[in-house]
This record gives sequence, structure tokens and C-alpha cells, in this order.
Amino acid sequence: MTPTLEAEPYRIKVVEPLKLTTPEQRQEILREAYYNIFSIPAEDVFVDLLTDSGTSAMSHFQWAGLMTGDESYAGCRNWFHLQEIIQEITGFPYILPTHQGRPAENILTMLHLRPGLAAISNMFFDTTHAHVEHKGALPVNLIRDEGLQAEVELPFKGNVDIDKLEEYIRAHGREQVGMILVTVTCNNNGGQPVSLENLRQVRVVADRYGLPFFLDAARFAENAYFIQQREPGYAQKTIKEIAREMFSLADGCTMSSKKDGLVNIGGFLALRDEAKYRLAQQYLVLLEGFITYGGMAGRDLEALSIGLTEVLDQNYMANRVRQVHYLGNQLIEAGVPLLKPLGGHCVMLEMKAFLAHIPQEQFPAEAFTAALYLDSGTRGVGLGQLAFGSEDPATGKVHYSPLEVVRLAIPRRVYTDNHMRLVANSVIRVYEKRDQVRGMKITWAAPALRHFTARLEPLG
Ligand code: F0G
Repeated sequence: MTPTLEAEPYRIKVVEPLKLTTPEQRQEILREAYYNIFSIPAEDVFVDLLTDSGTSAMSHFQWAGLMTGDESYAGCRNWFHLQEIIQEITGFPYILPTHQGRPAENILTMLHLRPGLAAISNMFFDTTHAHVEHKGALPVNLIRDEGLQAEVELPFKGNVDIDKLEEYIRAHGREQVGMILVTVTCNNNGGQPVSLENLRQVRVVADRYGLPFFLDAARFAENAYFIQQREPGYAQKTIKEIAREMFSLADGCTMSSKKDGLVNIGGFLALRDEAKYRLAQQYLVLLEGFITYGGMAGRDLEALSIGLTEVLDQNYMANRVRQVHYLGNQLIEAGVPLLKPLGGHCVMLEMKAFLAHIPQEQFPAEAFTAALYLDSGTRGVGLGQLAFGSEDPATGKVHYSPLEVVRLAIPRRVYTDNHMRLVANSVIRVYEKRDQVRGMKITWAAPALRHFTARLEPLG
């Protein structure tokens, strides 16, 4: 099915020059940013692997599509085009455009949750988790246990634990659960896919208890590709056919088009239920914009229509995942600890093993991101104690984050394999001199979401 790809299946027509910095300059930039990677100006980053969200390069068809943007307030032509494409890919009849994924999450949780209810997922992405809590509801992650074990190699580590799902609903009662939402691929454990068999089982449980079941479809095409490559019976199916089958099992989806939409901004909510759709339209007008543009310009709607078509191309996708694995496999060969198997959009470095000499309350993930930036100007993101843990300054009691990882997320169609080799070499250099990496301490932090703005300082 997959042709052998020895090079990127595109050529480069426009280039964005990158600034080169010296180690001395990067040392100074780090100091000025208080060792927080979020505070470094993007221009001072050589390879930016902070996120794969909104960072894609568009094709010339998409850039040409921008020129056909119809900026009419109501009923612009690009909306009808986009609606048709999304209906064709997902099979969902009712589509609401939003400016990114989280407003779609906001509206979906407004429709299905209220204080006291639970919402169940394999693993909620952070913004979805926050939207569930914002409605007074309880986010419950029921991913299979192996999904959180770094060394266990299984084809579908994003799967929901079906026994736990059924047990939870039975123990708490169906009335206590507002909805099920499965994230494909599962971002929080490194872009691990969910199998069609698992989605079918979730559907059975949802039907048994009369619960609505949605997909967080941000990386739906990457998930479909893994099904094609790994799930028995799907090798001969196209990514589009598999995606359609995934969506056929759900009652709707939220979408951050900044990932598998191959655009820099955009999203949507798709639903099967007409009554819910009518209500959602009112929220959309209130929160985002009129029902035929939501939060997007007409030209952006067009770029998304084209991006959603391109992401389903077999050659595009085979190369996309190949490049992520090209980076990851170089690290595995060098013995760098990371989450296995490699996922669809990122490589997640396991910091508890990588920097075993730095205790979690000294923020090993941030110590590493600073060391990596200093070495090569590469930016990754720490997802560990600083983001998810806390320390009580009065009692000294530490609430530990279960995760201590650094994510290197690969933007789509942006970097070449040479960039990936540079990053791999840089990670390996830091790994070889890991004993010299020192822990960090916080010098200032906001009370909530502290990792975005915290000020840090190396210890010793
Ligand atoms: N769902 C998933 C699985 C995501 O990864 C994201 C964003 C969202 C929803 C929210 O979408 O940003 O368009 O509002 N993930 C980005 C990341 C931020 O870096 O992984 P959004």
C-alpha cells in the first residue's frame, strides 16, 4: 500500500530564512527568558518543535485558495465548500466552524455537561480537560494501563480500557455521565493511536447506556494511517475510507484544524443530532461569529477545505510519519530514553530516566529544554512537574506529576530530514553529558498555569 519514500514528496517554493545564533548568544537569551522556553522569541529558535499546532506549511493550492476567499458575513462560498468536504470526510450532517479546537470543546461541553456530571476519555487534552472542569464536571481518563508505560510496545496505546469504562458507568450510574470523548491520536501519551476495534467497543458501551460518544479529531488522519499500517484487515483501505469508518462510530467530533487540517488557524464542531446542532448554533453566534464563518475568515475556510483533502493523501502521510520516526529512531539507536512505540506527531523523551540524577521537584524537563536550546537552538516543551505538579512552600509537601517528559513535536511539511538529524545529534550530545545538567528552581510563578510564565534559575 505504502510506496517506499526516500525523500519528501514535495519541493520547496518559498523559504523562510532561519537566524543562526552562537552558544554565547543563546546563553544570554536563556538568561533573559528566565530559562523558560515559552519566553524565548521564536526568531531566536533554530528548529522549533514546541508544537505541531498551527505550524504547518501550506501547499501552493492552499495559498491560491486564499485568493478565492469570499468575506461576506453570511453565506460565503468558501463555507459551502468546507461544509461539503467535512460532510464527505466525516459523514456528520451538521458542521459549525470555529477559530480553533477549544471553542468547539467549549460548545460541546456546554451541550452535554453540568455540575456533578463526569466526562470520560482515553485522555483529555489539557484544554478539553479545562472545559470539562469549567462546566463543573469531572474529567475521567480511562486509557488502558499500558498507554502510560513508556517501555511497553503495543500498536494501539491510545485505546480506552473498555472494562474500566463499563465499570465506571455501572458504579456511578448512567445519569452521572454526560459524554464520552476519545482523543485520536492520543496527544498526551505521545500521539498513540486508537484502533477501530476499540472505537467499535466504545460505541457498544455508549449504546448500552445511551451515552453520546464523540471524537477529538485533531489528528484523525494520522490515527487512520496507523490503523491502515497496524490493524488487521485495513492494509488495502485508503486513509479516507478508514477515517470515514472512525467517524461513523461517533455522534460527532471536535476538531483543531491546526493539526490535521494543515492550516495555521481553524477548527470545527460536527454533530449528528439536529436538536443539539440548533442549540450549538446559538452558542456559536454568541461566542465565535455567524454560523457560516464561526471564528474564521472566508479565505481561511478555503485553505482548510484544501488542507483536509491533502492530509488524506497516502504519500503525504507516509512521509509525515516516516519523518517523525526518522528522528525517533536515531534517538532509540543511541539509547536515549523515550516513550515507545513512536507516535504520529512527536517524540516524547522520558526525563525520569534521561536525567535520573535530578529529582522531579527540580524540574528535569525544564533543565533539559534549556540544555537542548543552549546546545543547538532547538525548542521542545517540558510536560512534567512544572506544568502538572505543585510544591507547598509552607509545608514543603510536593504533589508529583505522573509525567516527566519533553515533547519534540514535528510541524507538518516544515523541516527537512537534515533538521531532524541536527535535532537528533543535539539530543544525543546532551544525553552524553547529562551528568552536567543541573536542576532548576522557581524564582517566580503565577498561581495557575504556571509553566507558561514561570521564571526559573539553574541550581548550584
Ligand atoms: N485536542 C487535542 C488533541 C490537541 O492536541 C489540542 C491542541 C486541542 C484539542 C486544542 O486545540 O489548540 O486548536 O484550541 N494541542 C496543541 C498542542 C496546543 O501543542 O498539542 P486548539
